[in-house]
Amino acid sequence: MDKLKIMKIAPSILSADFGRLQTEVESVLEAGAEMIHVDVMDGHFVPNISIGVPVVANLAGFVKAPLDVHLMIENPDKYIGAFADAMARNERDVSNDYIVVHAEACEDLIGVLDSIRSRGIKAGFSVKPGTAIEKYEDMLKYTDMVLIMTVEPGFGGQKFMPNMMSKVKWLSKNFNGEIEIDGGINAETAKVSAENGATVLVAGSYVFGAKDYKSAIESLR
Ligand code: DX5
Ligand code: ZN
Repeated sequence: MDKLKIMKIAPSILSADFGRLQTEVESVLEAGAEMIHVDVMDGHFVPNISIGVPVVANLAGFVKAPLDVHLMIENPDKYIGAFADAMARNERDVSNDYIVVHAEACEDLIGVLDSIRSRGIKAGFSVKPGTAIEKYEDMLKYTDMVLIMTVEPGFGGQKFMPNMMSKVKWLSKNFNGEIEIDGGINAETAKVSAENGATVLVAGSYVFGAKDYKSAIESLR
């Protein structure tokens, strides 16, 4: 990988202290994070429930940095409008934000990606560990980012699956957009991901579990 290219770090607020969410988010941004990753879970697509539209609207009230909203939900098409409106609250500039849906949850993936882009938000899709990426080759022209899950979606703090790197390698040869990795990222797995072509790293427990957010974030680059 080009050493001059700076890896973008997206801390996942799933591992933040929700009682002090604003301070937590401001701290990781001050510590150098490029984006804020927001894990939305519905208890159906994944076996866990996290946060939804009101929290995204709240974040949009003070976060100027790009929001990276990861929808681990069924029927994401039904909710794009609500999330997009929350992100665009108070005329916030959403042009560098992402909404990422799961390919497995979309009957009409092109339609969902188009509806995200039609709101001026960048569109991404994600695949779970058991889903091949090659079968989505034709979708790559409709997406700004592909998110490769390196754990089963649903929970923070799981172990990185190194065999997912073959997907990252394939993408780095076939796709010009952002290649994001999510799950089990720490200083070692960040290095492996970068070597295989990742351009954005999501890190939850590694960053928010650290005493010093700045050195944790720097250790991922
Ligand atoms: C898992 C989520 C991740 C999670 C990552 O379903 O998509 O974003 O927060 O957590 P860590 O970095 O702890 O594996
Ligand atoms: Zn995520």
